Amino acid sequence: MNPDIPARAAVLAGLGGWVPDRVVTNDELAARLDTSDHWIRTRTGIGSRRVAAPEDATSDLAVRAGAAALEHSGDPGVDTVLLATVTPDHPCPATAPDVAGRLGLTGAAAFDIGAVCAGFVYALATAAGLIAAGAADRVLVIGADTYSRIIGPDDRGNLAIFGDGAGAVVLRAGEPGEPGALTAFDLGSDGSGRDLITVPAGGSRHPATAAVAGADGHFTMRGREVYRHAVTHLTRSARTSLDAAGVAPAAVDRFVPHQANLRILASVADELGVPPDRLVSNLHEIGNTGAASVPLALADAAAHGELAAGETVLLTAFGGGLAWGSCLLRWPELPPSPRPYLRRSTP
Ligand code: UT7
Repeated sequence: MNPDIPARAAVLAGLGGWVPDRVVTNDELAARLDTSDHWIRTRTGIGSRRVAAPEDATSDLAVRAGAAALEHSGDPGVDTVLLATVTPDHPCPATAPDVAGRLGLTGAAAFDIGAVCAGFVYALATAAGLIAAGAADRVLVIGADTYSRIIGPDDRGNLAIFGDGAGAVVLRAGEPGEPGALTAFDLGSDGSGRDLITVPAGGSRHPATAAVAGADGHFTMRGREVYRHAVTHLTRSARTSLDAAGVAPAAVDRFVPHQANLRILASVADELGVPPDRLVSNLHEIGNTGAASVPLALADAAAHGELAAGETVLLTAFGGGLAWGSCLLRWPELPPSPRPYLRRSTP
């Protein structure tokens, strides 16, 4: 490393979230599908999820979350916008430039990151790399997904799990080790699991012609196999980050994993040795929101005063690809959070 160039870290400067108003309860799903509130709650911990209004696409959710994060950071300007999503507005172009333009950020570098439910942590790592390289000074990182648009109308398994939403953070250039500095990234993938979570049609292997429209255009997940991989990789990746930073699991104050399934999160916390009361989860209210789940959980917890300055926070995510990622930060002193975007209900 060149000693003349001071090391730069990506430091958390603001955060925000947005979920659609429309609540779909378990009972509403059970009224038209062969499922029940009891099955969904006991297997997943989910009580309801949000569904985007018909006129809203992923960019509309992303713009609202991005605006909230910029406002919270106290500075509406950034030079780079990263959008983690697997439900872009269109296959081409990327959705991030449109989001940037609608946030008054025309001219900013803007691109999408597709690492499914690990996408937000991948985007944080990309932003940290751009900042460290001097290629960016302030980055808006958004995770947004509208799974309701890609799940088949009769797919009781995935309709029960997934919801729509967007979460965002602002990262600024700062010094390694200062409060809010992202550190100890671990990223990984295993393409041999590519068929476990997939939308088969619509890409270059099966273009979205009329012949493949229909079921092949819908999202699929082999839940039981994914469950096993999720526990393994979330645990392993989180442990790698903790080891890299020399932090003991018991010293983690807040564990913010991708909100996949409450049973998965409890198992991972248990295997890691992170006390269960440190787990941050809003799964019961909004389900699994894909790339949005980690920033939404963070924004939700921050808005409810559940993240205090100085606390050690562990982020870890896993999803299709298969792909996973983790990192750590010490929670910084931030301006008071804007009004909570979620009202707390009983788990
Ligand atoms: O975000 C990316 C990462 N995603 C994840 O990590 C998700 C990982 N997987 C899971 O969370 C769980 O595997 C699910 C929640 C998807 C499923 O729970 P499970 O306990 O693994 O259930 P299962 O798939 O083994 O299915 C058990 C039974 C099956 O019936 P049979 O074959 O035993 O008769 C399913 O057909 O439950 C049935 N089932 C349902 N029943 C009522 C599946 N979905 C439903 C449903 N309502 N919604």
